[in-house]
Amino acid sequence: MKLLHIDSSILGEQSVSRMLSRATVERLKEHNPAIDIIHRDLAAVPVPHLTGDHLAASPAVMDEIAFGEKILDEFINADVVVIGVALYNLTISSQLKAWIDRIVIAGKTFRYTENGPEGLAQEKRVILDVARGGQYRQGTSLTASEHAESYLRSIFAFIGVTRLDVIAADGLAVSDAHRESGTRAAFEALSALDPRCGF
Ligand SMILES: Cc1cc2nc3c(=O)[nH]c(=O)nc-3n(C[C@H](O)[C@H](O)[C@H](O)COP(=O)(O)O)c2cc1C
Repeated sequence: MKLLHIDSSILGEQSVSRMLSRATVERLKEHNPAIDIIHRDLAAVPVPHLTGDHLAASPAVMDEIAFGEKILDEFINADVVVIGVALYNLTISSQLKAWIDRIVIAGKTFRYTENGPEGLAQEKRVILDVARGGQYRQGTSLTASEHAESYLRSIFAFIGVTRLDVIAADGLAVSDAHRESGTRAAFEALSALDPRCGF
């Protein structure tokens, strides 16, 4: 069993999504002690943005192409992927988007068919640990403006992931009391998360 742990917040030790993703990995590890863990910190070692040179496989970017293939292999080989997601400007960080651009690859994680695109990453579990300054839960006025969780749900569904859980800490920038209650609610949800990793 392999677990890929991704962090994408730029806020280091202050980051709530990092705190949640670390606790999620610890919970899964406790129940699956033999699990292999790879941690990829996209703020410490950023994945370069895609460019035309990459797509043309120009010799000048062969190292970067190899790095991109490593990123893709890590994802394909993982049974469980835990992602710390910080909400920036209503969406995911550009660091996380650069990673997504390396794992959503035709012929690898999805393919085009006569009946439309088909996801190939079907036997994978994804857990999102989301941290948001505002309050975006269903039924609030900001729900429609949230493009991090909603985008990640769409893109992972596109590549065939059906087992996706979301742990969200909301309202972290509203007040100290909101930060505390939002974080507490996320940890409560985490303690109820199914820790079984297999299909
Ligand atoms: C550059 C930046 C942009 C942000 N944009 C938003 C935003 O659009 N909406 C929001 O609710 N919070 C926003 N926030 C607050 C973050 O969502 C909040 O700090 C959250 O805790 C970030 O996750 P982290 O703690 O893992 O870094 C922003 C924070 C930063 C640093």
